[in-house]
Amino acid sequence: MSLLYEGKAKRIFTTEEENVLKVEYKDEVTAGNGAKKDHLPGKGRLNNLITSKIFEYLNDQGLKSHFIERISETEQIVEQVEIIPLEVVVRNIAAGSITKRLGFEKGHKFNEPLVEFFYKNDDLNDPLITDAHIKVLEIADDKDIEALQSAALEINNHLQQLMSKMDLRLVDFKIEFGRTKYGNLILADEISPDTCRIWAQDSDENFDKDVYREDRGSIIDVYQSFLNKLEDIK
Ligand code: TMP
Repeated sequence: MSLLYEGKAKRIFTTEEENVLKVEYKDEVTAGNGAKKDHLPGKGRLNNLITSKIFEYLNDQGLKSHFIERISETEQIVEQVEIIPLEVVVRNIAAGSITKRLGFEKGHKFNEPLVEFFYKNDDLNDPLITDAHIKVLEIADDKDIEALQSAALEINNHLQQLMSKMDLRLVDFKIEFGRTKYGNLILADEISPDTCRIWAQDSDENFDKDVYREDRGSIIDVYQSFLNKLEDIK
């Protein structure tokens, strides 16, 4: 197996099987495009266990992703895809960047979920982009933009139901999509407390990376308690 790519929180390896990759989750946490970073033993395990469970849940709901199977505490096997350089963000409740960008109060509930696209480009600081920008950058055409939007909203419905079974609220999340060798767009990357904002049902207690972004305690404890809730679902 050779290392194909190393990111801030994961390493991707080729495997003996064509179009199958191994993802290893690292014990690293970063925020603000790497401006804040720390080594946190146990974090890779938690993200791998949580992401695997969530992809399995989505699969059970008929929603396919790149996920094939978890093979160890920190590793999973996935289908190789070409990642579309977009971060697709869905927001149910205002928090984070939209409160600063558009002035919404933190906690404002949107009448309907809002889908935003950010251009995955560290040098440009992942800017918010419009459909017109996506087309001029030749990232996706109208049909694919529409498909990404509707897949994101469908995933939001499934994740909201999952979180409500855990007595939690899904505030917002970021997903990424990839193109398979057959040209299909599928959900890829990860879904974990690193990539979602999750609040308790009756308060804005966080079960996500805001605890780290805002120096409010141990994310290991917070992510472990999220995993416990996920494993307790009937
Ligand atoms: P934002 O409020 O900072 O735009 O983030 C919206 C959601 O996207 C939040 O759940 C965190 C997640 N996110 C990532 O997973 N990666 C990123 O690089 C950014 C900026 C946000």
